Amino acid sequence: ATAYVSLEPCRHRGKTPACTDALVRAGVERVVYAVADPGGSAGGGGAALDAAGIRVDGPVWPVAVGRRENPMFFHKHETERPFVAVKLAVSLDGLIAAVPGQQTAVTGPEALRAAHELRAGFDAVMVGSVTARVDNPRLTVRAGSVIPRVPPARMVLDSEASLAETSALFREREGRVIMFVRENAQQAELERLERAGTEVHPVPVAQGGLDLGAVLDASSETGIRSILCEGGGRLASSFLAEGMACRLYLFQSPYVLGSAGVSAFPGPFPEGMWGQWVPAFDPERLGDDVITVYEREA
Ligand SMILES: NC(=O)c1ccc[n+]([C@@H]2O[C@H](COP(=O)([O-])OP(=O)(O)OC[C@H]3O[C@@H](n4cnc5c(N)ncnc54)[C@H](OP(=O)(O)O)[C@@H]3O)[C@@H](O)[C@H]2O)c1
Repeated sequence: ATAYVSLEPCRHRGKTPACTDALVRAGVERVVYAVADPGGSAGGGGAALDAAGIRVDGPVWPVAVGRRENPMFFHKHETERPFVAVKLAVSLDGLIAAVPGQQTAVTGPEALRAAHELRAGFDAVMVGSVTARVDNPRLTVRAGSVIPRVPPARMVLDSEASLAETSALFREREGRVIMFVRENAQQAELERLERAGTEVHPVPVAQGGLDLGAVLDASSETGIRSILCEGGGRLASSFLAEGMACRLYLFQSPYVLGSAGVSAFPGPFPEGMWGQWVPAFDPERLGDDVITVYEREA
């Protein structure tokens, strides 16, 4: 038999035993793998299989293709910080809500399902404090066909620790709730949030809000390796401006929301920043909407 695998089989014991041993035991005659394993102790599986008398063909893809298919995996080998992707549903005129202070369904039901399936692939889903108040989201995975192995943690950046404990986020028990607040936020507020079932992390303040580097480091310390930032525009823009987002999922509606709306990308952005972003795949049509996945070129 021939085994086709996306990544060079590992030859080390991590959470699970070595893949190379399993393939030898299974008696496969040939292994075809897409990309080489970048990991130190995990790498070299191809040579180990070869030494065991199995015919090995690979890597058949350049690393860049493997990285596009599975960016989180490669990111994990390069930095301790979580992989960050930004997802926004944007109108034809570049807006994410029709009126400030009001939730707007920008895209249709097919896109909504796709958004929930996207959530399921991340360790955490994050929003800014304005979105947490205005949309009052649960941030759980409730639609689509993907059931997450572990429900994503739900994160809010709320400097003053002032989110109401009646928020929908606290009513759901599915997925940890993690809040980032400014250092020196009112102790009584922190305790109130903790009583509501939240993990609270005080972090320093930087220009434009909480220090996102500190937010990512604190996330990493609690075991979070990937974060989907679902807005709003100001938080998403901060991640983009600071070069901390690796992917952008743009759910583009064909409809206009009008001049009173909330901007998807309020910026400011460093000169030339948008030039780094290129489509990773062909755009996909879902109902009336078009989903384009962008990646930041290294
Ligand atoms: N269509 C979509 O995809 C979509 C998605 C989400 C939201 N929305 C809409 O977007 C609107 C809210 O978006 P928004 O841009 O006004 O606000 P936002 O991005 O949701 O929240 C911004 C707030 O987050 C906090 N924050 C903490 N650190 C930050 C940092 N480093 N950078 C940026 N923000 C930081 C700040 O509040 P504190 O000072 O309180 O910490 C800041 O005012 C709502 O109308 C909502 O309905 C649309």
